[in-house]
Amino acid sequence: MSKKITLLAGDGIGPEIIAEAVKVLAALREHGELDVVLESGLIGGAAYEATGTPLPAETLALAQNSDAILLGAVGGPQWETLDIKVRPEKGLLGIRSALGLFANLRPAILYPQLVGASTLKPEVVSGLDLMIVRELTGGIYFGQPRGVCRLEHGERQGFNTLVYKESEIRRIAQVAFTIAMKRDRRVCSVDKANVLEATELWREVMSEVAAEFPEVELSHMYVDNAAMQLVRAPKQFDVVVTTNMFGDILSDCAAMLTGSIGMLPSASLDQSGRGMYEPIHGSAPDIAGQGIANPLATILSVAMMLRYSLDSPAQATRLEKAVGAVLDQGLRTPDIYSPGTTQVSTGAMGDAVVEAFIHTPG
Ligand code: IPM
Ligand code: MG
Repeated sequence: MSKKITLLAGDGIGPEIIAEAVKVLAALREHGELDVVLESGLIGGAAYEATGTPLPAETLALAQNSDAILLGAVGGPQWETLDIKVRPEKGLLGIRSALGLFANLRPAILYPQLVGASTLKPEVVSGLDLMIVRELTGGIYFGQPRGVCRLEHGERQGFNTLVYKESEIRRIAQVAFTIAMKRDRRVCSVDKANVLEATELWREVMSEVAAEFPEVELSHMYVDNAAMQLVRAPKQFDVVVTTNMFGDILSDCAAMLTGSIGMLPSASLDQSGRGMYEPIHGSAPDIAGQGIANPLATILSVAMMLRYSLDSPAQATRLEKAVGAVLDQGLRTPDIYSPGTTQVSTGAMGDAVVEAFIHTPG
């Protein structure tokens, strides 16, 4: 039976990079390697403009009835002054929450061809392969109460709540340890247990779950130190598991180790493995429409989708190899360009990956 994929292009460079991912999916379909039906929905600022809400009910229904979702990016300066409840980002947070996508996997892998594109010294980053497991539907992003109130003397006060239930910590821990079992069997849990009670509990529950995985070595690190260690000696990490907000921040940092945030894919999974796939970068409104965005993070998100939701691990590996082949050919979008390589457009990069994919043996 055909698998259904919902495409949510969103805003800024979203439509351009999704178009390149669609080329890859179309090639898979044409070559009889994947039986998929693609359907498109509105999200973010684009959805707000068309319907008055960043997450229309039709979009949610489409997503709920699909096997996987591929998302571009949301947001832009024109919506920054809107009420927070209808801002584009609410669409993204809303779909993550409504679909129960609590486990966000953000692999940071440095392609050897891009060692020179990283701002860090080659010896610090070459061979980097770490996995950030970010809790995605809890913590301060969703905690209640939240808002801005007026104090008695009239001054305004903003407040958010960092809250984690034991069960929320336990399930993300289980995901992290399970992934570590297939890797180097090391998990570093990042918290701020020296200051925040919620993450003191996080640390305790992580240690409890570790007992179920005796072959995995668990360490704990405070988030400030983790940020420093990520740029000092990132190869010390195998799997990093952390809260929603710390994971948001640390994954941008890890992305830059790989040369460009334009290279990093992600998967957001629910309890049963159904997922939404998206590049970790934003909508980059400053470069939208110019044909210079890097589509590789989105194409690599398709590879994650093939692996985790479409039961096609061989195609996933081939697609990742095709990306490597294109980098070997010296093709670079501006964000990963270095002297001696060839600068190409978003579309040319997508075409090159499709071409390489077709010629990559299965
Ligand atoms: C991310 C993004 C989102 C987040 C924004 C766009 C709401 O930064 O996916 O990392 O903070 O989760
Ligand atoms: Mg982010």
